[in-house]
Amino acid sequence: MSSNRTLMVLPGDGVGPEVVNETLRVVDWLAKNKNISFNIKEGLVGGASFDKFGTPLSDETLVDTMDADAVLFGAVGGPKYDGVEFEKRPENGLLRLRKEMDLFANLRPAMVFPALVDASSLKPEIISGLDILILRELTGGIYFAEPRGIDEINAELKKGYDTNLYTTPEIERIGRVAFDMARARNGKVTSVEKANVMMSGVLWREVMVNLHKKEGAGINIDHMYADNCAMQLVRDPNQFDVIVTDNLFGDILSDCAAMLTGSLGMLPSASLGSVDKNTGKRYAMYEPVHGSAPDIAGKGLANPLAELLSLSMLLRYSFDMKEEADLIDKAVSKALDAGPRTPDIMAKGREKVGTKGMMDLVIHKLEELTN
Ligand code: NAD
Ligand code: IPM
Ligand code: MN
Repeated sequence: MSSNRTLMVLPGDGVGPEVVNETLRVVDWLAKNKNISFNIKEGLVGGASFDKFGTPLSDETLVDTMDADAVLFGAVGGPKYDGVEFEKRPENGLLRLRKEMDLFANLRPAMVFPALVDASSLKPEIISGLDILILRELTGGIYFAEPRGIDEINAELKKGYDTNLYTTPEIERIGRVAFDMARARNGKVTSVEKANVMMSGVLWREVMVNLHKKEGAGINIDHMYADNCAMQLVRDPNQFDVIVTDNLFGDILSDCAAMLTGSLGMLPSASLGSVDKNTGKRYAMYEPVHGSAPDIAGKGLANPLAELLSLSMLLRYSFDMKEEADLIDKAVSKALDAGPRTPDIMAKGREKVGTKGMMDLVIHKLEELTN
């Protein structure tokens, strides 16, 4: 099956291009071996775009990205841009993409591959068999709400402030996604906020409780404070099925969940908009949870699997290619079962490899699985 779908690739900065380039080898493999090809377009984002165009996301790249059928994103940021004015920082390219495409639902699945049970810093009995989904609201809350700023009161005194703001429909739409996701999983939703101290949290809980009464048939819902959730994630992560939470808590809790799986280099994500009623199109961007990893960038050591698993989510959710997505997931699992590993998931007795070596192994497994 060939395809006329367009895949927009935005490698970004640091290890972003390293893990994206390796992942594109699997796209090539699919073209050669499964007769599936996409029109691939590449663009600059983050620091790479700032260096060339003076902005972390040019209008042209935004248009190309919004025209595409799906987007594969690497990572942005790095110490080189520490002194850059706030609006032009690399991270703003990513935030603008999320906002312009209204990618309000960020799915961050945390699964422990059997072979990686030892790579987690937690005891095997705590994380074995883990399969949870953190659903992070991605276009609202403290990341975007006004007022925000730094005001100078006088020569010695400034005030810096952000606003955490959610409206009823913003909470309802992410709540609906949580219910839909839980229905396809184990039927359990844990809604996470701090309704004990934050007004936005009080509203979040009220809306979730009401939505559950109206639309939550068959869903078992719990409400948990975010600080307790962080603790419960490392105490007994298997108690969760779907965790739904706001933008900031979701950012923090998903990095925490990454370490349950062994490494940030293992955690993929899908950022989805809603389906347009007229065109049927749904904006979607697939991005690993990790950043540009400046400490290992340029050394060829980054784990490419979070990026590759993001491609697998892309095939599954945007291109309806369940078979190919399953094949990639299986090849990753088999690659981890045997053979060498990147340093972040190293285990005793394994040979150490870099980004390319890890992908060589996955491609080898893809071949084994299909021959
Ligand atoms: P980071 O995720 O880049 O790195 C945190 C730690 O995890 C580092 O020790 C790093 O080496 C390790 N790590 C990350 N990805 C890895 C991989 N694929 N393989 C092996 N190890 C990996 O977070 P940070 O250091 O806090 O941030 C660095 C920069 O990245 C900042 O500019 C930040 O804003 C940006 N960032 C971007 C994204 C994104 O583009 N989606 C996400 C997070 C952070
Ligand atoms: C993430 C990142 C981003 C976020 C940054 C780079 C803007 O940490 O995707 O988790 O905070 O959302
Ligand atoms: Mn983050």
